Amino acid sequence: MSTRAATLAEPSEWPASLVEELNRCRHVAVLTGAGVSAESGIPTFRDAHTGMWARHDPMTLASPQGFEQDPETVWQWYQWRRQLIANNHPNAGHQALARLQGLVSELTLVTQNVDGFHQLAGSERVLELHGNIHRNICSVTGELIDAEWMQQHDGQRPPPSPHHPRGLARPDVVWFGEALDSSILEAAFTAASQCDLMLIVGTAGSVQPAASIPVMAKDHGAVLVEINPENSELTALADWRLAGPGTKWLPALVDKLAATH
Ligand code: OAD
Repeated sequence: MSTRAATLAEPSEWPASLVEELNRCRHVAVLTGAGVSAESGIPTFRDAHTGMWARHDPMTLASPQGFEQDPETVWQWYQWRRQLIANNHPNAGHQALARLQGLVSELTLVTQNVDGFHQLAGSERVLELHGNIHRNICSVTGELIDAEWMQQHDGQRPPPSPHHPRGLARPDVVWFGEALDSSILEAAFTAASQCDLMLIVGTAGSVQPAASIPVMAKDHGAVLVEINPENSELTALADWRLAGPGTKWLPALVDKLAATH
C-alpha cells in the first residue's frame, strides 16, 4: 500500500516536527493489536508463516458455529493459548505504554488483544474490544462464570455452565460474527474523536470495527503515528510511520515524550 506518512527507521534522530507534535499532545489514544505481544512470544493472527490463522481455520476455532460443532477442540485451543500466555510476560512495549499514563493529561488505551498483558504491565482502564481470554462466560446466557468455580472445573473439556442447563463454559472473547460490547466500543470512539494523537501499534487494521477507530481519530484532526515493522491497511492514514517492532519504538517514543512534557 502506498503511504504519504513520513517513515522513520531508527529512533536516534527525531524530526523536530514530530517532537513538536509530542510536545503539544494532551490526550493520547492508543490502539494495539497482536503485534504488540509478538515479542512476548504470542503469535500474531495474520503472519503468513507463524500467524494463528496461517495454521488454523478461524471459523472452526473462533466462531459460535465452530464451538457448537466441536466445543472440545475449540476449548483445547483456548486452553493452549491460555497456557502460552501464562508462560510468557509483557514486554518493553507494554511497559512503555504503562509508563505513558503518568506523562500525559489523558490516555486511552484500546486493545484488540485478549491476553491481558497491558494490565499485567501496569496499564489501568484498558478498553478490551475483543474481550479477555482469562475470563469465561456461559455459552447460552453470556453470564460471567466465577473464576474460582472455573478453577475447580478446569480441564480438557468445556465444563457445563453453572448458569444454564444447556450451556457450556466458553472464553469471554469476541468470535467472528459476534458483536463487540457496545459501551467499550463507544468509549473507544469517544476517545478517537477527542484525542490529539493516536498511536497505532501492531495491528494489520483488517478487522472491523476496530480498524475504523483510527479513521475517526483522523477525521477529528488527530495526528496518527503507526508503529509496525510492515505496512498495514492503516498505513495510508498515518502521518508518521515508525518502522520496526514495538519494543524498539514504544520505549523510545515514551522517553521522548517524557523529555518534552
Ligand atoms: P494481525 O495478526 O492481523 O496483525 C498483526 C500486525 O502486527 C501486523 O501488521 C504485523 O506486521 C504487526 N507486527 C508483527 N510483529 C510486530 C512487532 N514486533 N511490533 C509491532 N507490530 C508487529 O493482528 P491484529 O491486527 O491484532 O480478533 O488482528 C485483529 C484481530 O483479528 C484480532 O484481535 C483477532 C483476529 O482475528 C478476534 O479474535 C476477534
